Amino acid sequence: MKIGILGTGHIGKTLVMRLSAAGHEVKVANSRGPETIEPELLSTGARAVTTEEALTGVEAVILSIPLNRIRGIAPLVARLPAETVVIDTSNYYPLRDDKIEAIEAGQVESLWVAEQLGRPIAKAWNAIGSASLARKDKPAGAPDRIAIPVAADREHDRQVAMALVNDTGLDAFDAGSLADSWRQQPGAPVYCTDLTYGEIRAALDAAERDRLPKRRDLGVAVMQERLGDGTTNPDEDWGVRLVRAINM
Ligand SMILES: NC(=O)c1ccc[n+]([C@@H]2O[C@H](COP(=O)([O-])OP(=O)(O)OC[C@H]3O[C@@H](n4cnc5c(N)ncnc54)[C@H](OP(=O)(O)O)[C@@H]3O)[C@@H](O)[C@H]2O)c1
Repeated sequence: MKIGILGTGHIGKTLVMRLSAAGHEVKVANSRGPETIEPELLSTGARAVTTEEALTGVEAVILSIPLNRIRGIAPLVARLPAETVVIDTSNYYPLRDDKIEAIEAGQVESLWVAEQLGRPIAKAWNAIGSASLARKDKPAGAPDRIAIPVAADREHDRQVAMALVNDTGLDAFDAGSLADSWRQQPGAPVYCTDLTYGEIRAALDAAERDRLPKRRDLGVAVMQERLGDGTTNPDEDWGVRLVRAINM
């Protein structure tokens, strides 16, 4: 597929390398311009471009930018044809994103994103930590392959997002509609706990909506105490142990 990716951070950089290695034609942009993109990201065939170019002539777009930057790219996204699949990886962290009143009041994060963009989206890769995404990929059929939930309202969006998730070394689990995707938000049992396909349904069903924000913030507090700077991500072992202890 022809894919445009916005974001070359913890999550975006792995998506760029995996999807281009899987044979997709990937264009990638960050906010600072193509010349600032590390050559390593392009080593499997992706091309560094401007944000405008990344969203031109592609069949799928992956947004892997902080939630509070979504509004800023809405005018660019609005130019996409209706059938383009837009997949968003974002999560709401009030400490990073500042308070977003609608989400604080209970709006599902993916519905807030879809509303800002004025179009349907799929939600994927939000529920895996960056270290697990980078280091725990497995070939299809491996019994301990990590699975992640994918939510969407349009069938084509769902199918494309699930196929691309599989291409990044993970099993895709159909988690239903965007309205139900609060079950995969930070603080939920399925969030960054590295479950297998057979474990995901029960974890989604076990989510308790009112407890998610508190559990999310407990995780952030512990990570800040241990990692300090607010930008370092936990490694794939300690991070998963921590989140399992809080969220499950
Ligand atoms: N870190 C995780 O473990 C994790 C796990 C799952 C989901 N997520 C979610 O995925 C999203 C990305 O997370 P991350 O940790 O990868 O973030 P990150 O490391 O902070 O990287 C953010 C990236 O977004 C780019 N960006 C910001 N505004 C942009 C714009 N207007 N146009 C193009 N690129 C733009 C930044 O480019 P510049 O550097 O040039 O500004 C940077 O490359 C977040 O919503 C996060 O909640 C993160």
